[in-house]
Amino acid sequence: MRILIIEDEERLRRVIELHLSAEQHDVVGAATAEAALGQLENVDLVLTDLKMPGMDGLTLLEKIHKESPQLPVIVMTAFGNVETAVEAMKRGAADFLQKPFSLAHLSTVVGKALEMRRLKVENERLRQELETRSGFGNLIGHSAGMREVFRLIEKVAPSRATVLLCGESGVGKDMVARAIHYHSPRRTQPLVKINCGALPENLMESELFGYEKGAFTGATVAKPGKFEQADQGTVFLDEIGDVPLPVQVKLLRVLQEREFERLGSNRTRKLDVRVVAATNVDLRAALEGGRFREDLYYRLNVMPINIPPLRERLEDVPALAGHFLERFGEGRYRFSVAALEKLLGHRWPGNVRELENVIERSVLLASGELLGAEDIRLEMGPRGRAGGGEGLFLPAGMTLDEYEQSILREALKRASGNKSQAARLLGITRNALRYRLSQMGLEDKEGEG
Ligand SMILES: Nc1ncnc2c1ncn2[C@@H]1O[C@H](COP(=O)(O)OP(=O)(O)OP(=O)(O)O)[C@@H](O)[C@H]1O
Ligand SMILES: [Mg+2]
Repeated sequence: MRILIIEDEERLRRVIELHLSAEQHDVVGAATAEAALGQLENVDLVLTDLKMPGMDGLTLLEKIHKESPQLPVIVMTAFGNVETAVEAMKRGAADFLQKPFSLAHLSTVVGKALEMRRLKVENERLRQELETRSGFGNLIGHSAGMREVFRLIEKVAPSRATVLLCGESGVGKDMVARAIHYHSPRRTQPLVKINCGALPENLMESELFGYEKGAFTGATVAKPGKFEQADQGTVFLDEIGDVPLPVQVKLLRVLQEREFERLGSNRTRKLDVRVVAATNVDLRAALEGGRFREDLYYRLNVMPINIPPLRERLEDVPALAGHFLERFGEGRYRFSVAALEKLLGHRWPGNVRELENVIERSVLLASGELLGAEDIRLEMGPRGRAGGGEGLFLPAGMTLDEYEQSILREALKRASGNKSQAARLLGITRNALRYRLSQMGLEDKEGEG
């Protein structure tokens, strides 16, 4: 394993380097944090001094965490400087060494951190393997709605039946599509996803069905389309409602006859694919508006699976939230009852994806390992706003105090910490802002400005 050592005092750095090299580690050294940042690739462990000319160790720690959150960092602190060591641990350091330390102690601390690293990498590998093998294991939910989804997945997976997944954005359609593929006999064959909404009309046809050399200007070599790539496997047509009418005709033919031609060719090709399509719009409305072909609709709608929005299965929220907390917080955090109540009070217009984002942000900004209601940072955009359209109101689950706090923080952030400017943004005086901040105990944390 590769260890990066950052220490401005050359002699000490050399001693550490020699010692760890002698223990069969691959060791690289840097005299400054700036130099170290360019050397992070393939590194398994970082050992850094805290006080250095230029960027200090705490700042470096933060940068490393941003870039490679899984990379363990051990900090070396001067004797008697307990507070910085504590601060470093709070900010995610794996361990600390107080100078002067013995080489034996160095070996122990480094060995422990590397062992943790090895376990984490191994865990991640197993998790990914499991996920690609089953794709089911990560689908969480025990609400009646989700149990019905699971039942249908199991039922349709073994066959070649076309499946239409319907549900709002962020409910988990991608995940369900993968679960179907990985539970089907086609699991060892390709699963090819086509995002119909992202493709401009003129590109879609060549993307789906491929083309021959010379089919159009720029077609210098022949290229197979996504359907061909997915032969024997599954095609996942995402946002099927966005397919333009001319392409719909060709899709219909693939679904009906399992045949197609590449652009610029009249050779008919046969193929064996299973089609899973997804939509977050009501296709029936598109039918009536003449934007979707009726015959294609009925072909697709053989086996519809509706994935209910999260607000209609709030009982899934705790398990999902716990799952994301485990993932983003690496098992270090817990929810308080108040935090869970706040999560349950929200309407989740962005569904599971929104919940995932909220938990990720909450972990990033958490003040401690037990998350309180104030640590749950709900989305504040127009989509996250609560209330049934009766004008301006608090985001669901937030108290007035929490809301005020988040507005004050945001104003300070926008003003880069400058209180006079933040006060202007809020339309209050600087003194009024200071008073509110001190009332909330935010005064010293935000610093002077
Ligand atoms: N039941 C679930 N268990 C665990 N994670 C889930 C579940 N449902 C959704 N997620 C997670 O939520 C996020 C959004 O899910 P996904 O991308 O499948 O939604 P989608 O319905 O395809 O959204 P869109 O319509 O925007 O494409 C993903 O990160 C996914 O991992
Ligand atoms: Mg999707």
